[in-house]
Amino acid sequence: MSFESYHLTEEAAIVTENIPGPNSLKLLEKQRELEANNRSYPQSIPVAFERALGSIIEDIDGNQYIDFFAGCGVLNLGHNNKDVMADMEKQQKKMIQSLDFPTRNKVDFMEELDASLPDELRGNSKFNFCGPAGTDAIEAALKLAKINTGRHSIISFQGAYHGMTSGALSVTAHLHHRKKVPSLEPGVHFMPYCYCYRCAFGKQPDACRVECAQYVRISLENPCSGIEKPAAIIVEPVQGEGGTIIPKEGFLEELVQIGHDLEIPLIFDEIQSGFYRTGPFFSFENFRAVPDIITISKGLGGIGMPIAMVIYKKNLDTWEKGTHAGTFRGNQLSIAAAASAIRFAKSHHIEKYVKELGKEMLGSLVCIQKKSKFIGEVRGIGMFFGIEYVKNPNSKEPFPEMAQQMRKKCFENGLLVELGGHYSNVVRFLPPLITTPKIVQKAIEIFEKVNNQLERELG
Ligand SMILES: Cc1ncc(COP(=O)(O)O)c(C=O)c1O
Repeated sequence: MSFESYHLTEEAAIVTENIPGPNSLKLLEKQRELEANNRSYPQSIPVAFERALGSIIEDIDGNQYIDFFAGCGVLNLGHNNKDVMADMEKQQKKMIQSLDFPTRNKVDFMEELDASLPDELRGNSKFNFCGPAGTDAIEAALKLAKINTGRHSIISFQGAYHGMTSGALSVTAHLHHRKKVPSLEPGVHFMPYCYCYRCAFGKQPDACRVECAQYVRISLENPCSGIEKPAAIIVEPVQGEGGTIIPKEGFLEELVQIGHDLEIPLIFDEIQSGFYRTGPFFSFENFRAVPDIITISKGLGGIGMPIAMVIYKKNLDTWEKGTHAGTFRGNQLSIAAAASAIRFAKSHHIEKYVKELGKEMLGSLVCIQKKSKFIGEVRGIGMFFGIEYVKNPNSKEPFPEMAQQMRKKCFENGLLVELGGHYSNVVRFLPPLITTPKIVQKAIEIFEKVNNQLERELG
């Protein structure tokens, strides 16, 4: 499959003497005067953008960057993908907003989505459209689980990121997001995630018995654990903001078994890892684990159109009229974009493309790691990558300063990347899934050059 025509160009081009360029600086200053202090990304990547196509984004000074940040993993089919845009345009002429009334557009989309589900869920699921952000889907999923079980507490995981609204923040582990908010929901217990590079149980992979999953079982079965039976277990099948952490086989499977044995609904948060990011439609399809409830958003809108949904087994459909409402859950443009994105992904064999190109990218990153002083681990599944920086590969002491410098210098050289990790020491790539091999090669060249330069300076 060839995607050249979906991109502005296939390489980065820095044309100003300094980055940010003069026009970016002016706009950033205006933004600083007007916009809230909690704005986030422009404080780390100071730039003002003008236009974008595919995996290339251009700033207001004419510099072109390879966008492996992709709106934080949203632009799975690239900026302004022309096929998705054309389908949206058709819908735009008909109608844009319809609350939760049925439209042909929406019903066709649900049928398309149902056909994309794995066997166990296909024909056996209900779809909830909630507010347009990922965090809205988390709120809805938690509410659904609480209504079904009559219980209130939740099991979540260390390193989890589920969103910024109150319920979602309550199950989000990052302390710097939580610490200034005094009234988060009580009864949330954070278990160690299956993070083999930093195993909470001190195990090496060959001696591992997936103790992290066993620990969840013990905590829920032991009447003296201090942890009451929860309304749900919520987990990212591949942890995203936590540093692109891919669990070992057996972890998700055991969580499914625990949920089944103890009658606890299992929620897989596919907001970042879903929509073909790891190859298949959902990242859990890389494992033998199927949850009761799924949250999906981000990449589902194909080109950044806001849409969020909860998909759950029909037997959980016990909530009543209006139990979870939201004005913007009926955005017909987002729905048309999502339907179009699914059709595009299927007709262009995206799953295969992501697996093959992802494997090549991982190979290139592992080669860089082998020569590197500070890359402790490279992780990748499909086109979802994490490069974990450590001061010393033996001690594994996190090196967040290096990761921050990597993001800054990559930006100055024309490559946008994301940061994450339990210790903010992981550089993350979330490229549009239609990125061409040539763009990948150019991005890897920039990454390697910057990594080597910084290793010389900081080593
Ligand atoms: C796994 C996961 N869940 C939920 C969210 C929240 O989504 P949003 O920022 O759209 O509210 C995110 C955002 O990064 C995420 O990665």
